[in-house]
Amino acid sequence: MGKGSLIIYITIALAVLLLVSRAPRKSSSHHRHRRLKLRSNFTFAPPTLPHHQQQHSAAAHHEPVPFDPLVADLERRREDREWEKQYIEHTHPELAHHEPAPGEESQPEWEEYMNAEDYLNDEEKFNVTNRLLVLFPKVDVDPVDGFVTLDELTEWNLKQTQTEVLHRTKREMELHDKNHDGLVSFAEYDPPSWARNTDNGSFGYEMGWWKEEHFNASDADGDGLLNITEFNDFLHPADSKNSKLLQWLCKEEVSIRIEGRFENNLE
Ligand SMILES: *[C@@H]1O[C@H](CO)[C@@H](O)[C@H](O)[C@H]1NC(C)=O
Ligand SMILES: *[C@@H]1O[C@H](CO)[C@@H](O)[C@H](O)[C@H]1NC(C)=O
Ligand SMILES: *[C@@H]1O[C@H](CO)[C@@H](O)[C@H](O)[C@H]1NC(C)=O
Ligand SMILES: *[C@@H]1O[C@H](CO)[C@@H](O)[C@H](O)[C@H]1NC(C)=O
Ligand SMILES: *[C@@H]1O[C@H](CO)[C@@H](O)[C@H](O)[C@H]1NC(C)=O
Repeated sequence: MGKGSLIIYITIALAVLLLVSRAPRKSSSHHRHRRLKLRSNFTFAPPTLPHHQQQHSAAAHHEPVPFDPLVADLERRREDREWEKQYIEHTHPELAHHEPAPGEESQPEWEEYMNAEDYLNDEEKFNVTNRLLVLFPKVDVDPVDGFVTLDELTEWNLKQTQTEVLHRTKREMELHDKNHDGLVSFAEYDPPSWARNTDNGSFGYEMGWWKEEHFNASDADGDGLLNITEFNDFLHPADSKNSKLLQWLCKEEVSIRIEGRFENNLE
């Protein structure tokens, strides 16, 4: 057999392989053209971004939020596990690498995930029509008239997002609340290493993100401790209703802008 025919054989084999691997996918997508999917690419963003950087990335992402709280709950549980795994890899890489069988470890998790997706796509268990019938009255509230308006839908999505954000804040809080009293003191709230180890002149302190002032502004009742609401405001000052914090944020944004101008002028 010559070299030429071997190449032809391989080419044909590859082509057949390609057709075979594509065919079932195509037909299955015809059958179940709307298989519901759980989002699966959560990426670990350390909670250490300075606030305006965080706002920029949030604006760039426009992270979608599930419409159905049931789906949101499934995704949250999945995200929590992913988060835990990545957190350990981040903070204790030695643990993550010494785990005996990572393949075995991840198997039940993956199965559970697939089960959750199967659950969503099993019409007997997760009946989309039924879910809409259940959820509709919860969205149609202002006024209750059998129609969902843009405002009602916006309000609903906002509520889902707030639930999502608060959930992440709770997760974050567990990390910092060292004495587990449900409150975070400034001492408990370690600034991240990059802010701690740098000189005072460098950007960590200048950002104001780790300033005690920011902490104090978030502390609505001024008791020196942040409860979950206040801690959520601390992490997401722009979404806060706390006037003290909003004032601090304005001041901070203005000074950053002035500094930016000043630097631009120097260049
Ligand atoms: C996964 O992440 C990419 C890029 O970050 C994004 O474009 C995509 O929509 C995400 N997929 C899902 C299912 O969320
Ligand atoms: C889903 O719910 C709708 C409305 O309640 C019902 O008519 C339909 O038969 C249900 N489908 C299944 C597969 O149970
Ligand atoms: C930075 O300044 C603060 C007080 O303004 C001080 O407590 C802290 O130790 C200083 N940090 C460094 C790394 O110099
Ligand atoms: C946290 O404290 C603030 C300010 O005192 C208060 O308005 C809020 O209701 C508290 N949150 C919780 C969950 O207790
Ligand atoms: C923050 O508040 C505490 C009292 O709760 C006070 O001792 C501290 O000086 C305040 N820090 C700043 C920077 O305002």
